[in-house]
Amino acid sequence: MNYRHAFHAGNFADLVKHAGLLQLLDLLMADPRPLTLIDTHAGAGGYDLEGELSRRTGEAAQGVFRLMETPLAPAVFDALKAAVAAGNPGGGVRFYPGSPSLIGGRLRPGDRYTACELRDDDLALLRQTLAGHEGAEAVQADGYATAVARTPEAGRVLVLIDPPFERADDYSRIAETLAGVLAKNPSAVLAAWLPLKDLETFDHFLRQIEPLAPDAMVAECRLRPLDNPMKMNGCALVVAGAPVGLDAPLGEICRWVAGLGEGQGRGEAWRLDG
Ligand SMILES: C[S@@+](CC[C@H](N)C(=O)[O-])C[C@H]1O[C@@H](n2cnc3c(N)ncnc32)[C@H](O)[C@@H]1O
Repeated sequence: MNYRHAFHAGNFADLVKHAGLLQLLDLLMADPRPLTLIDTHAGAGGYDLEGELSRRTGEAAQGVFRLMETPLAPAVFDALKAAVAAGNPGGGVRFYPGSPSLIGGRLRPGDRYTACELRDDDLALLRQTLAGHEGAEAVQADGYATAVARTPEAGRVLVLIDPPFERADDYSRIAETLAGVLAKNPSAVLAAWLPLKDLETFDHFLRQIEPLAPDAMVAECRLRPLDNPMKMNGCALVVAGAPVGLDAPLGEICRWVAGLGEGQGRGEAWRLDG
């Protein structure tokens, strides 16, 4: 496992993932009943953009730095901008919140959050991020298996899947996890983040998901045409059990981030059965 999210923190794909996550949390938490959250690939929880790993790629320059310097981003980014500003009380954009930090800040009494991370170094940072957040637990365990094992048979559950895609079987493991989670709790919501490289890989994944979640929402942010399997040409969020009201904000997030590219960008949210 070589992947470290610090290389990519705050890039265009994180804007889609994290602005989308906050929209999803807003909708699910509008319902006062407790929520179980299971984050299969949690990472460190938060990132220092002035650290060596982030500086080596400079990916935040086309992501959160652009977001924070423009007054023109649509309101769907307000919650992410507020979270970034809160993490940098002295001003500037040095610290970027990962999903665990964003979720930790939203937990209500009665909610339960399990964050899975395999690497020792990122797990130690994750534990620091989650310290003091009542109901949050970091575990060193395979996220796919933990998601199925910890999905409650009754009650509301949100599963987040954000693998490094270092392994070819990440796509099929997402589909297997969705099947396992829905078998235990048919009302579960599951959101998976994916890189967009070539159309064939993406279509093959969607064909695996369709029989399990025929009305899943697909939010796509394409920076350029999907014709080079060696390049990250965009990213997508695929949400099974997506609540009503998620499609419009996620489409807007994807369109705006796609516009940060070189002029060939395209963003939209659609349903598999639409
Ligand atoms: C893309 S990063 C996560 C970023 C995080 N979701 C966020 O948005 O802040 C993926 C993480 O998954 C971890 N990982 C890889 N395989 C895993 C597995 N099977 N179970 C749990 N964690 C895993 C990696 O070490 C890495 O830190």
